[in-house]
Amino acid sequence: MTRVVVCGALGRMGTTVGRLVNDAPDLTLVGGIDVKPGNFFGVEVVESAAMDTLLAEVKPDVVIDFTVASAAVENIKRSARHGAALVVGTTGFSPEQRTEIAASIQGKVPAVISSNFSIGVNIFWQLIRNAASMLPEYDIEVLEAHHRYKKDAPSGTAKTILQILDEEVGERKKFYGREGMMERGREIGVHVIRGGDIVGDHTVLFAGNFETIELSHRAYDRSVFAQGALKAARWVAGKKPGIYGMNDVLSLGIAASK
Ligand SMILES: NC(=O)c1ccc[n+]([C@@H]2O[C@H](COP(=O)([O-])OP(=O)(O)OC[C@H]3O[C@@H](n4cnc5c(N)ncnc54)[C@H](O)[C@@H]3O)[C@@H](O)[C@H]2O)c1
Repeated sequence: MTRVVVCGALGRMGTTVGRLVNDAPDLTLVGGIDVKPGNFFGVEVVESAAMDTLLAEVKPDVVIDFTVASAAVENIKRSARHGAALVVGTTGFSPEQRTEIAASIQGKVPAVISSNFSIGVNIFWQLIRNAASMLPEYDIEVLEAHHRYKKDAPSGTAKTILQILDEEVGERKKFYGREGMMERGREIGVHVIRGGDIVGDHTVLFAGNFETIELSHRAYDRSVFAQGALKAARWVAGKKPGIYGMNDVLSLGIAASK
């Protein structure tokens, strides 16, 4: 039995992950952490100040984090100190926070970190890589849409898309939204929509003369991310210390999926 603690237990993703862990015969939900204490699926949720005490008590094999970037950095440090493997879905990390995370994990615990745990998105990233490598002269635009409560923009998934495009067509200037008079250059346009309860839509548009190609992924339910996070939790327990991506979990043999 793999023992799991969820950080961000009372949030949208944390609740979904908690429900799936609770239903899984091979996983045991042993605790939750959030800003305020509470309960989820018959298990105690403690406030973040009590995280060390909880981890010492319940000794999880894996901590799954879906919180906010600043909180996740601290949660990762604490989990690593307690020897728990990590699955990190939180997005919006700055380059400095990524360095801090790497320093707290390296040589201590294994961690799967991904801006998107859906299997479909990990395949979608590979399709974008293939298309971009064959269409370096085409204009490229990236569009993403999420629910009204999403805080970071563009999404972590869109940032991974931009990283893949840079790797395939060479680094291009990013243009975040357009307004006023301007000529299109070699930039990549990035467009962010926030509204309603959109779970997560991403499109990459390749535009040439007389034709366009659009690659799109649409998530209909956040359980698609939670299922991927559970897959990662099963995989990561017992692995060698280091940072892994969903590409490692899924054995996709692709480069960028963080
Ligand atoms: N990687 C993926 O596949 C994927 C999928 C969906 C969402 N996300 C990301 O997951 C994160 C959470 O998304 P959400 O929609 O569940 O957000 P949410 O706001 O519904 O939930 C976040 C939860 O974290 C809690 N929290 C804040 N600080 C905390 C702390 N110090 N300790 C413990 N808990 C704390 C909040 O109280 C809240 O309950 C976001 O960064 C989002 O972009 C990633």
